[in-house]
Amino acid sequence: MLNSFGGGCDLGDEDRHTALEPMFVSKLPPALLLVFSLTACDTGSEESATAATGDTSDDSVGTTGDTSTGDTSTGDTTENETVDTDDSTAGDTTGNTTGNTTGDTTGDTDDDTTTDDTSGAQPCAPDLELYDDANCEQLADGIVAFTPQHKLWSDGLDKHRFIYLPPGETIDVSNPNAWEFPVGTVLWKHFDTPEGQRIETRRLTKHGVGVGADNWTFETFLWNEAGDDVTALEDGLENALGTDHDIPSTEDCQECHNGGQTGMMMPNPNELIDIPLGFSAIQLNHEASETTLASLLADGWLNGSIELADANIPGDAIAEAALGYLHANCGHCHGGPNPPKNLTLWIDIGAATVENTTTYQDTVDQPTQPVMPNMGLDELPPWRILPGDPQNSAIPWRMEKRTNDAAPMPPLGTEIVDDEGLSLVETWINDLGA
Ligand code: HEC
Ligand code: HEC
Repeated sequence: MLNSFGGGCDLGDEDRHTALEPMFVSKLPPALLLVFSLTACDTGSEESATAATGDTSDDSVGTTGDTSTGDTSTGDTTENETVDTDDSTAGDTTGNTTGNTTGDTTGDTDDDTTTDDTSGAQPCAPDLELYDDANCEQLADGIVAFTPQHKLWSDGLDKHRFIYLPPGETIDVSNPNAWEFPVGTVLWKHFDTPEGQRIETRRLTKHGVGVGADNWTFETFLWNEAGDDVTALEDGLENALGTDHDIPSTEDCQECHNGGQTGMMMPNPNELIDIPLGFSAIQLNHEASETTLASLLADGWLNGSIELADANIPGDAIAEAALGYLHANCGHCHGGPNPPKNLTLWIDIGAATVENTTTYQDTVDQPTQPVMPNMGLDELPPWRILPGDPQNSAIPWRMEKRTNDAAPMPPLGTEIVDDEGLSLVETWINDLGA
């Protein structure tokens, strides 16, 4: 299905432009839009070209270790393996950082133990540098899973997240709301269908000292049908593996992983923060995560201390869930020093009451601001949140829109309204009027 990433080859240029949100089009210089349109269609032909030429070299790769994984489903693996070889040459900068950090430690032990071993020597999806075994079950050395308390809605897909922190390094939490990660940090996120088919894995690798998107590599990988190998993508892919899921281009990552530089403002380097979004104090301060704020403190992952009691979203269960939902689904854009329309939906730690949160202050009884002309918003509710009256509140009104409507929120990354999230927010608004 069409969404705001507009990355499909079937679209004419015209359609592609309308598919992009006005805000994004205005941010992209025309030259870039053109490049985007051209490259979006390149992947297909490139892939088939390498697949066709690469057959012979591929066989030799296959014979080295692949008794279990590679050789059975020839068609799929051939294509993926050739594309992979291609990637490792093209992506040298990324490859090296991850290779040296994750790769070396795990790779060495792996080799030593598996030489005498008859089971599959080659880890699944080796390009991800995430697993140690052929079945994608055993995480490579030093990698741990984590689950944010409040999740980004991704049209009902299941997600799994992992982090690797280089040995001996710590995360700088001097600003407890904006953690700074050491060089060599790697984060992954899988996207699976509810039936368990793995579609996509995203990876963030920190390669440079300092904060902000420039110091990170953004990557995304498409899984094969068999679920044992991946192909790196740059330009995204619509309806990946026949699902409705659209993989964003690596350029689009920064619409959300934006280092606090949101909206249409020119970035101010002094106000930059680091770009991971779900690995944070509030998001990890709950028991249902494999890695929690408490475990990070206990295991020496952080260079300072954070009071667990401060890292909570205030309010009763409904308020907390609604504020947490807006934090995770809107706060990456509606946050930072220049949030769009001066609307902050991000929660900093330490807010003692609901009324103390910026989210409450920026929404409750606050009028909506005029929208850009030509967006067809005559019926836009006059209040961001009117206590007791979700129908006259712009927040839930816009959450019910998707990219083929005017004024969808969020404006990208989803094609299906999150009924559960919407009803959470509506229930909270009703409660506010009680
Ligand atoms: C629509 C906004 C959005 C876009 C676009 C987006 N992300 Fe994210 N991403 C998030 C949010 C919010 C989280 C944290 C919440 C969650 O995981 O549920 C996250 C989490 C992640 C994580 C886990 C680590 C973390 O930050 O918590 C990785 C890895 C990641 N994204 C990579 C990427 C890459 C690579 C791209 C581009 C191909 C991308 N993301 C595009 C919003 C986005
Ligand atoms: C990818 C960035 C992004 C995300 C994610 C996002 N927004 Fe927005 N939002 C914007 C931009 C840019 C504007 C200003 C342009 C416009 O009004 O469409 C905006 C404007 C708004 C406005 C209008 C404010 C006013 O005073 O009229 C509301 C309400 C809003 N967003 C709600 C939300 C909600 C609720 C979410 C999460 C469910 C969300 N947004 C997620 C970028 C984002």
